[in-house]
Amino acid sequence: MPFFKKKLVQKIIKENPNIDRYKLEKEAGQSKKGKRIIYGHRKMYFCIHSSLKEIDRDFGHNLIKEINLLKKTNRNKKIRILDWGCGTGRAIRELALQNKRMEFIGFSKDSYIEWKNYSRKNLKFAHTTFPILERYLKKNPVHLMYSRLGITHLAEESTKFESIKLINHLMKLREGLIIGGKILIAGEIGDIAKETLEKSGFAVEFRDRPKYEEKISVLTRIK
Ligand SMILES: C[S@@+](CC[C@H](N)C(=O)[O-])C[C@H]1O[C@@H](n2cnc3c(N)ncnc32)[C@H](O)[C@@H]1O
Repeated sequence: MPFFKKKLVQKIIKENPNIDRYKLEKEAGQSKKGKRIIYGHRKMYFCIHSSLKEIDRDFGHNLIKEINLLKKTNRNKKIRILDWGCGTGRAIRELALQNKRMEFIGFSKDSYIEWKNYSRKNLKFAHTTFPILERYLKKNPVHLMYSRLGITHLAEESTKFESIKLINHLMKLREGLIIGGKILIAGEIGDIAKETLEKSGFAVEFRDRPKYEEKISVLTRIK
């Protein structure tokens, strides 16, 4: 298996900003199970190009279930959905192709060459800062946000400060949702975050997902 150090991958991307990152990451090394790349002694997930099926599986099949529920309960309304940390946008593109009457937004701090081809009438990509996204969402709230291997980057180091960063960020996203709107996170945000967010206008539940020890987090805006 070819073996690139993380620094080398970053150097290649810096020198060739238009490089196909997905191919590069594939070349950099993949385990048999999927997109796990091994840098030095650390194992890292380096998924930026996951399919809708892969993402929905990581949500314990709750993502597609929630979208179908939205369709049933909002028949005549324009449903808006945001992928927080969308990577290349492969999954949200699939959703946009399957649901032409809904609007989709892919948000990420990095931009990807795939976005150019994937953008369409009902799918826009936002390569921007969080404050700008926050302002935009306040004026144009969404029905559903989902994040797989995205928003949890804010708590990556697991220090107290980083977790507070994640909680603050989620609090600010509340007004970017319609009342009753949901944020789905493929991972467990923890009891302290649950308690804090519940005090700030969310209902928080952790749902089991098959084959995973860790649950998913579902935040519903209740006020
Ligand atoms: C590991 S990729 C996951 C991509 C996709 N969700 C998937 O599962 O294939 C993480 C994504 O989150 C984005 N991201 C990480 N930290 C971020 C931040 N602080 N603000 C915005 N986007 C961020 C990255 O740019 C990248 O697109």
